[in-house]
Amino acid sequence: MTALVIDNIGLLVTAEPELGEGPLGLVRDAALVIEGERVTAVERAGAAGDERLDAEGRCVIPGFVDSHTHIVFAGDRADEFAARMAGRPYAASGIRVTTAATREAGEDELRTLARARLAEARRAGITHLEIKSGYGLETEAERRSCAVAAELTDDVTFLGAHAVPPEYEGRADEYVELVCGEMLEACRPYSRWIDVFCEEGAFDADQSRRVLEAGRDAGLGLRVHGNQLGFGPGVGLAVEMGAASVDHCTYLTDEDVAVLAGSDTVATFLPATDFSTRQPYPDARRAIDAGVNVAIATNCNPGSSYTTSMAFCIALAVRDMRMTPEEALLAATRGGARALRRDDVGRLAPGARADAAVLNAPSYTHLVYRPGVPLVADSVVAGSVEATGR
Ligand code: NIG
Repeated sequence: MTALVIDNIGLLVTAEPELGEGPLGLVRDAALVIEGERVTAVERAGAAGDERLDAEGRCVIPGFVDSHTHIVFAGDRADEFAARMAGRPYAASGIRVTTAATREAGEDELRTLARARLAEARRAGITHLEIKSGYGLETEAERRSCAVAAELTDDVTFLGAHAVPPEYEGRADEYVELVCGEMLEACRPYSRWIDVFCEEGAFDADQSRRVLEAGRDAGLGLRVHGNQLGFGPGVGLAVEMGAASVDHCTYLTDEDVAVLAGSDTVATFLPATDFSTRQPYPDARRAIDAGVNVAIATNCNPGSSYTTSMAFCIALAVRDMRMTPEEALLAATRGGARALRRDDVGRLAPGARADAAVLNAPSYTHLVYRPGVPLVADSVVAGSVEATGR
């Protein structure tokens, strides 16, 4: 098998403490040896290989693992964003605007739009991502969304319970039955996960539990959107049901933090959402100090967070959530992998998938130090150089 060597790496972040210094497992003057789709060795610079990608002394990190995205949608909500910046509050009901456009779009149009967003994410160093449905909100449109997502990732999440669609206004329980019955049946073949938006204005605790139970009975793993717009039952429900992740976590009580700390459920922070909706940022410091497992994701979606820049999310996490650059980078790599219950991505160690980003910078701290600058020179996905921004 041909070996690709990423050579002359000034600073390699393995995210594997046993391989190097500190929690990031840092190795200086390194080479990463890749055979096929996998990393086979971390060696000194100058290692032998058939093909060579010269990192020219720069920093190489594991590709970002984006564990929360909604990139299958049609339409635009820039006017809503502008109105929000002028003082209008964010409301979960905005989801319906995207629903109308997504229902009108055919599968080809959704595919073209989603592929373009995936390409943008690759250029930003995201080498693995989860993709949710949730803008169709009727059986065929949800099925289409899951089918398109399944062409782009093996972490597809069925999110029929994202919002109550207009035709079910005042009949949320009936809509939940549709989600748990015919819609789940249509989407399950494409999906690994089920998710529910457990929040005032979306689904209450009983409705959310019903959705999660139906998904679990259908063999899907569980995820929850919770505690985004206020305190609520999302975190407690996620932990009680053994969800892999509860996402947003902007409003956490002391009890929520304690319950998360005693669980395997990852708290996934989505700081670009709090930026774009003018919400307060989550208190990540409190959660980490209590022992909560955390991740950071982009939440790329048209309403509350239209970005594919994980670097921007990392910068916010450090600047406004009091995470260290090391904690934030780990949360965007290994943390994202953990939120998806996988260990093949998010780290650069023998056996792991060869997903890496070469930065146009000598160290990962530049992701925060140079906010807004696209620092990813090359994205390597499963051993192939996929996007180059050199
Ligand atoms: O994660 N919170 C629910 N869903 C998305 C928002 C979707 C939208 O406004 O279109 C989120 O922020």
